[in-house]
Amino acid sequence: MQPAIPQGPQWGQPAPPPGYAGPAAIDQLNPYAPIPGRIVVAGLTKQFKRIRAVDNLSFTVEPGSVTGFLGPNGAGKTTTLRMLLGLISTTSGVATIGGRPYQDLGSPLRTVGAALEASSFHLARTGRNHLRILCAAGGLPESRADQVLQLVGMTPAANRKVKSYSMGMKQRLGLAAGLLGDPQVLLLDEPTNGLDPEGIRWMRGFLRGLAAQGRTILVSSHLLAEVAQTVDDVVIIAHGQSRRQGKVADLLAEAKQSVRVRTSHVDQLLTALGSQAAVRRTSATELYIDNVTSKEVGRIAHQAGVEIDELSTVQADLEEVFLQYTRTGAGIR
Ligand SMILES: Nc1ncnc2c1ncn2[C@@H]1O[C@H](COP(=O)(O)OP(=O)(O)O)[C@@H](O)[C@H]1O
Ligand SMILES: [Mg+2]
Repeated sequence: MQPAIPQGPQWGQPAPPPGYAGPAAIDQLNPYAPIPGRIVVAGLTKQFKRIRAVDNLSFTVEPGSVTGFLGPNGAGKTTTLRMLLGLISTTSGVATIGGRPYQDLGSPLRTVGAALEASSFHLARTGRNHLRILCAAGGLPESRADQVLQLVGMTPAANRKVKSYSMGMKQRLGLAAGLLGDPQVLLLDEPTNGLDPEGIRWMRGFLRGLAAQGRTILVSSHLLAEVAQTVDDVVIIAHGQSRRQGKVADLLAEAKQSVRVRTSHVDQLLTALGSQAAVRRTSATELYIDNVTSKEVGRIAHQAGVEIDELSTVQADLEEVFLQYTRTGAGIR
């Protein structure tokens, strides 16, 4: 028997930001709808002895895109992924892939692949052997090991022992393992951890390619900035609860715009700007003004006859936007 679909108020989430079509929209979704590649997490809760790691969490992930599953360390990301993969039981709520909980999937390897932790390899094995053992366990032909090694660009290192691999190589090996069954859905836990910028760029292109094939890619990270250019959509959680789901583009648009001005006539400019402006003076010759365009500042300076040496728009740190959603009810767990 299928567990009951959580309904109504028990899905209660923190007040959603304007324009957020979260729980209300999700409410309409049947987690058991047989839509290939769709992930539905509905009212999901995991209570460890004393810690509620995941707390009435709800979100959906659609195929054909890369979705960032974001939250600070301890937010409950790994625990959620483990429940999606049937590795740990749920306390309540439902997590489905293509309309079924993991344990009810007809062909789990074809349906979902995952890379949860780069450190869980047998270090004395070669990358190729590691994958061949997984092939044998999953009833897949051994030749699949070499195919996925090639996909992730690891063929040259196939016969080296895993203990000699860099962090980036381990991440690629984990990814290769997740791809063995050619799955429709890929769950990656912090895949950019330990990658250098070149590795992150490679990962970005690779995941985008998989999404373009119509797969569902869910990538967890505790750093928005690290995945902002990789993901189309975001699910942000904190303390095991949903904080925000939407397009990454909308999130980026919320990043505060400031205008940076350099002038030897700071005092005159301050007078011209008036008392309403949100201004920060950072040195004798530099100001930051929030929530205005550089054009507007230029116009005011021109009208007041204030000579400007430099005028530029700066985007507030992306991480700051992320923190706005995650820092409420603080405390590191
Ligand atoms: N097996 C476990 N037993 C007890 N507590 C756990 C267990 N696994 C995770 N936790 C706790 O659950 C919370 C969420 O952890 P986790 O899902 O790993 O977060 P994240 O992956 O977002 O960093 C943390 O407080 C963590 O310490
Ligand atoms: Mg984690």
